[in-house]
Amino acid sequence: MMQWTDVHYRKLARLLTRRTLLFTEMIPAAAIVDAFEAKDGSLGQLLAFDAEQRPLAVQIGGSNPALMARAAGLCAKAGFDEVNLNVGCPSSKVTTGGYGACLMKSPQLVREIAVACLAACGGRNGVPVTVKHRLGVDDCDSWEELQDFVRTVASAGVTHFIVHARKALLGVLSCEGNRTIPPLKYDWVWALSRTFPQLTFELNGGVDSLDEVQQLFSKRPLRGVMVGRAAYKTPWILSQADATLFGAENPGHSREEVLDLYLDYASAYFHAQQRAGLVSTPSAALELEQLLAAPLSNLFEDETHLFRVALLREVAARETDDASSRRHDSVPLPTFMLRRAAACAAEAVAAARAEKSQAV
Ligand SMILES: Cc1cc2nc3c(=O)[nH]c(=O)nc-3n(C[C@H](O)[C@H](O)[C@H](O)COP(=O)(O)O)c2cc1C
Repeated sequence: MMQWTDVHYRKLARLLTRRTLLFTEMIPAAAIVDAFEAKDGSLGQLLAFDAEQRPLAVQIGGSNPALMARAAGLCAKAGFDEVNLNVGCPSSKVTTGGYGACLMKSPQLVREIAVACLAACGGRNGVPVTVKHRLGVDDCDSWEELQDFVRTVASAGVTHFIVHARKALLGVLSCEGNRTIPPLKYDWVWALSRTFPQLTFELNGGVDSLDEVQQLFSKRPLRGVMVGRAAYKTPWILSQADATLFGAENPGHSREEVLDLYLDYASAYFHAQQRAGLVSTPSAALELEQLLAAPLSNLFEDETHLFRVALLREVAARETDDASSRRHDSVPLPTFMLRRAAACAAEAVAAARAEKSQAV
């Protein structure tokens, strides 16, 4: 999810679950190819991930088969476990670029893209190429058109489809509207899996808990269930995923341990960026700490909003601290303050818990 499932979110997620498949944000194919051609290390930065984040799928977006193939090949080389093609994004920026959800109207083009990407990823025995799509788009939304889309794309050799189980209305609804207003139709995903038993399907849309994931698995022959917003907004639900869904051991950390481990990571990341000369001003430090704080801010969200509110307030308060330090003659390098902010936020949670237990 763009601006959500970045490298920092994925770090947090891996402290909670080791077995689930994680996804990157969508990366435009052109950005990947441009970064490669720049030969300045930017490709490494764009596609960087620690091996512990695997299994990890990268999602790419674009409509030019040759460009998509080059990007897919670079991603395969970078070590991702799956290359996923975005055929579901309704954002006007993306669809005016001719890709994302609008590609559902051009199944033959998606087929061409898939053929090229599969070849670039090593064919049948290489890195799997999968497609994430909607049930339809605008007035191209009939069951027959959906079947035709899947059949056509599958003829390229794609065998796994992730279905966001609602249509998109381009230019009419906002991105947010396109994630909430068109009704979810899970029965169409069941129907796809019955119609194409040789293919596998993964259901996405409106799944908020592990209980719901389990229920979906128990009823139907699904290969997977993708949880989007809930996995970001209430990441703690992931802490039971390995045992519940895979029969494996959960990492087993408490929230407080996850907090500490993530802060160690964030501190190391902040200081590495500082050593690279990228965090020398207060505004750069604020920006980076906001980025690092964003996934962490949701860690207690299913229990209380207090942690998020306090954490983000404390991070923003760095502006005042830095402004006062600027009054001195020599301006020191900005310091890492997220740990202090998190301590204040954790105190707010502890106080709320104490109050609650007194009230009981
Ligand atoms: C902030 C945000 C960014 C998203 N970015 C992407 C993206 O980059 N690629 C994608 O396929 N879907 C993206 N989505 C859509 C989700 O992957 C998912 O399909 C959608 O939210 C429905 O699933 P959910 O109800 O579990 O959230 C995004 C959603 C949100 C809220």
